[in-house]
Amino acid sequence: MDAKQRIAQLRSRHGEAEPSGAGVTATQLPAASHEVLARVVQLRETIERHNHAYYVLDAPTIPDAEYDRLFRELQALETQHPELLTADSPTQRVGGKVLDGFAPVRHAVPMLSIRTETDTEARGAFNFDTRVKNALETSNEIEYTCELKFDGLAINLRYERGVLVQAATRGDGESGEDVTQNVRTIHCIPLHLKDCKADVLEVRGEVYMSRKDFNRYNGKQREQGLPTLVNPRNGAAGSIRQLDPKLAAQRPLSFFAYGLGEVRGWELPATHSAILDALQGFGLPVCDERAVVAGAQALAEFHQRVAAKRDTLPFDIDGVVYKVNSLALQKQLGFVSREPRWAVAHKFPAEEQLTVLRDIEVQVGRTGKLTPVAKLEPVFVGGTTVSNATLHNEDEIRRKDVHIGDTVIVRRAGDVIPEVVGVVLERRPADAKPFVMPTTCPVCGSHAVREEGEADARCSGGLFCAAQRKQAILHFASRRMMDIEGLGDKLVDQLVDEHIIRSLPDLYRLDVATLASLDRMAEKSAQNIVAALEQSKHTTLNRFLFALGIRHVGETTAKDLARHFGKLEAIMSASVEQLLQVPDVGPVVAQSIADFFAEDHNKEVVNELRKSGVHWEENEGTAHLVLPLTGKTFVLTGTLPKMSRDEAKTRLEALGAKVAGSVSKKTDCVVAGTEAGSKLDKARELKVPVWDEAALLALLANNGEGFTP
Ligand code: IVH
Repeated sequence: MDAKQRIAQLRSRHGEAEPSGAGVTATQLPAASHEVLARVVQLRETIERHNHAYYVLDAPTIPDAEYDRLFRELQALETQHPELLTADSPTQRVGGKVLDGFAPVRHAVPMLSIRTETDTEARGAFNFDTRVKNALETSNEIEYTCELKFDGLAINLRYERGVLVQAATRGDGESGEDVTQNVRTIHCIPLHLKDCKADVLEVRGEVYMSRKDFNRYNGKQREQGLPTLVNPRNGAAGSIRQLDPKLAAQRPLSFFAYGLGEVRGWELPATHSAILDALQGFGLPVCDERAVVAGAQALAEFHQRVAAKRDTLPFDIDGVVYKVNSLALQKQLGFVSREPRWAVAHKFPAEEQLTVLRDIEVQVGRTGKLTPVAKLEPVFVGGTTVSNATLHNEDEIRRKDVHIGDTVIVRRAGDVIPEVVGVVLERRPADAKPFVMPTTCPVCGSHAVREEGEADARCSGGLFCAAQRKQAILHFASRRMMDIEGLGDKLVDQLVDEHIIRSLPDLYRLDVATLASLDRMAEKSAQNIVAALEQSKHTTLNRFLFALGIRHVGETTAKDLARHFGKLEAIMSASVEQLLQVPDVGPVVAQSIADFFAEDHNKEVVNELRKSGVHWEENEGTAHLVLPLTGKTFVLTGTLPKMSRDEAKTRLEALGAKVAGSVSKKTDCVVAGTEAGSKLDKARELKVPVWDEAALLALLANNGEGFTP
């Protein structure tokens, strides 16, 4: 629908006669009302265009502030002229009234499900292709569309003359529930279709929650001690069935179209792939990860290719879907027991499984962190057998209500550490035991302390605790730090348990005879380790800093510190204020570094290591350089239209600025792009100057000279 038609439609809704002929001309309406109408129509179109660019194409075109301005202007016009407000206005995406329940919706065309090919190997593809060819009594190669099988909730979107009028869940396939209000809050679902003249077009697809949105949502919930979502699919299903649309609007959902329901007044193309292309053309989100292929081998290759990148996709999938591409052949194939013969879901190994939690063990990490680890009845999940899974911390166990003896849901997605995500309460045995976090360290018996505001309990034993000592030595020796080859965990266990090593400098006192006297240690391996120790003495300042295991100092911070100060002495004697001048170092990190070097025994460890020959080259560092933006602190937030935040950060730092992660009174300037959230609010609250990207680009073009925020 173009702007003129939209205006005509609005007029007719207000009871005005539609002018004859195609167009609406200024002379046929009172000037003021025509102007307001035209502006409302224009604003809605502009806002929806930006929504599409942002949520569907993932390529925002205007800064957040500009979007907000347009949105507020539309809201104001709709408040002044309530008769212009329509349910399909983008202002109505925020969620309306709380519902008592969902009204039933009878599907014009039943929403069927598809057969699942359980053979997760390539054979699954061949089985399907054979069934199709047998049913068609042909030996010709068949053309298929391959799609992803999204792990969410099936939804039917009903568009009448291009306007979204209803959204319904699948329900039992014959009738579902009216969830229009909640679906309207999904920003990537167009409220109007582009260039779609169909009287009725029902679009079917999957509502899902992206992994990023899932993690962000759970992170926020955790921070506030509120319940978290078990997985993105539950997140999607829960939000769609949420009776308060304002709550639904807070849970960020997305959508992919994959098919059609009832269609009237639109001539269908000849193939399924052409339908998907057309839907994409109407402005609907259709996943780009799709292909048109011929023959079983190509199906199997698609399955394999997608399986290999499953973990890197921004959303969960549980397999792929193959569909015969020709609609004529689809018709010929028809259905068996309410499942189409022309489509199949070819699954991947599940990333979640149920198993029994036998026990909970508490492990001690390098920094003394106590982690409860689930000891599980071994279960095959995400492609491997899992018998240990993290339970994160005490609060998580309580929140998930995990008892020893429970049947739990274990999740292992990609290379991420397996975790227990939930409990099947109905299967709790009578003798299930609640877990009690120990008040002392299970390794050394020191007090376990949990500081206020911290999620983790820690062993207070420090390097007195054998577990922490072992981890500290392994950390020191690892490849990206001192790189001492051959010093693995079995050897470190022995060295610590037999009191051969009490602290890091003892490592450099090891000799071949001592090492060779240990279990499973041949003379040759002992020599290799001594040689590796010798070699490790020649290092760099950043590796050495990282190796010391200072809390919050990872590889990147160690590099930043080394570059800034150039010398270890300078770091050891730096004040918190001086440390804060280092790029990326915030108050928590600065305090942690200062605390570490304030301890005499840490200074002693450093001195002894240097005495035993550990050395590196030092330089003047960059701290003394005075650049145009030295001493100025910037905060970047939101998506910048032209450059990535990383690029902006690198360029600002090259001019001497510090780019901080949070806004405070000391921030000199906040640069805000689109979707700028709480940082922008904070900047306004503290009256910190806010720039857009254009202002930043001008400053960079001027090499940072003349900075006045
Ligand atoms: S086609 C008649 N395509 O999987 C064909 N379904 O039983 C109808 N699903 O819950 C389904 N991704 O919501 C189709 N690319 C895809 C899909 C897909 C996920 C879901 C669907 C339904 C189940 C199929």
